[in-house]
Amino acid sequence: MKPLRASCRVFIAVGWSLVASACTHPPEQPPTETPAATPATAPMEGAQPTDPTSPARSNSSADVPGPPQPASTTDATSEAPPLDPSLLRPLRTTAFATELEQLGLDPDALPAISTLGQMQKLDVMELVAQSLGVECTHCHVSDSDYRAETPRKAVARVMWNDFVVGRRLGNEPLFCDSCHQGSPKILQRTHKRAVKAYMKQQYARLVDAQGQGTVCADCHGKPFQPRILDALTSAASTQAATAR
Ligand code: HEC
Ligand code: HEC
Ligand code: HEC
Repeated sequence: MKPLRASCRVFIAVGWSLVASACTHPPEQPPTETPAATPATAPMEGAQPTDPTSPARSNSSADVPGPPQPASTTDATSEAPPLDPSLLRPLRTTAFATELEQLGLDPDALPAISTLGQMQKLDVMELVAQSLGVECTHCHVSDSDYRAETPRKAVARVMWNDFVVGRRLGNEPLFCDSCHQGSPKILQRTHKRAVKAYMKQQYARLVDAQGQGTVCADCHGKPFQPRILDALTSAASTQAATAR
């Protein structure tokens, strides 16, 4: 028996009716009246050029440039892939208030991370790791060296000292888990406008010890710097390299 031509083998997956019709015609020759071949090509040729209204129109209103929308859902739907429900989650009060108190720490008045006692630091690390849903080695070079500096340690230190210390979520205590909710990555970076709307809506709920609201510049500086972690991590890499 002669081996099947490659194109015919592909058609086997589609179905024997197609195989029968496609293989009896030379592939170069466009199918003229084979009923099985027609449905395979018709939808692609037909839908594309003649229907400008279908998927594009339902999104077009969200694509119109205009003032930033407060709600994140409308502008996000215009971009692909769709919004991931595990990202850009609303901030929530910490689940670790009791645990922090048991370690002798006031969740509303945490000290700078460097001032924690050695045992307190170790205990608090457990809560940090749980907040991000990571192992200790996500930030540390190994489980036998917690002192060595790493880029993620640098980020974590800044988040502790600048994002958590002295800040609350409205009237509620705030900790790493308030934003991270079990994951190191929490932003959907592909959706720039959704991230911006999310920050406006959710990060505005953060208040300082005097009850003053948080503004973009508190974290992003002035003029607005979208990427604030890169500088931290590259400085830490240099530091780690020169320390050796
Ligand atoms: C999200 C990042 C992160 C994770 C995860 C993390 N740590 Fe840390 N860890 C830090 C940072 C930042 C410091 C430095 C604190 C400071 O500046 O004093 C630190 C310091 C430490 C220290 C003190 C080191 C020293 O300088 O003496 C120990 C011990 C430690 N971590 C243990 C752990 C253990 C155990 C785990 C897992 C349960 C863990 N860490 C998970 C960020 C992390
Ligand atoms: C106000 C919200 C907020 C709080 C509170 C917060 N973080 Fe973050 N953190 C972020 C955002 C936003 C990012 C960037 C996430 C992304 O890229 O998706 C981030 C990123 C990080 C990263 C780098 C991501 C990675 O891949 O590992 C680390 C480490 C981290 N945070 C540690 C902490 C620790 C530790 C705490 C508590 C001391 C904390 N964060 C508290 C908002 C927060
Ligand atoms: C509590 C700190 C905090 C506040 C307040 C805050 N942001 Fe952010 N924002 C972050 C962090 C952390 C990241 C991740 C930055 C990085 O990757 O370097 C981020 C990322 C972003 C990004 C995505 C940047 C990128 O290129 O991926 C945008 C856009 C943004 N923020 C807008 C805003 C706006 C607008 C406001 C004010 C309404 C605001 N943020 C307030 C912490 C904050």
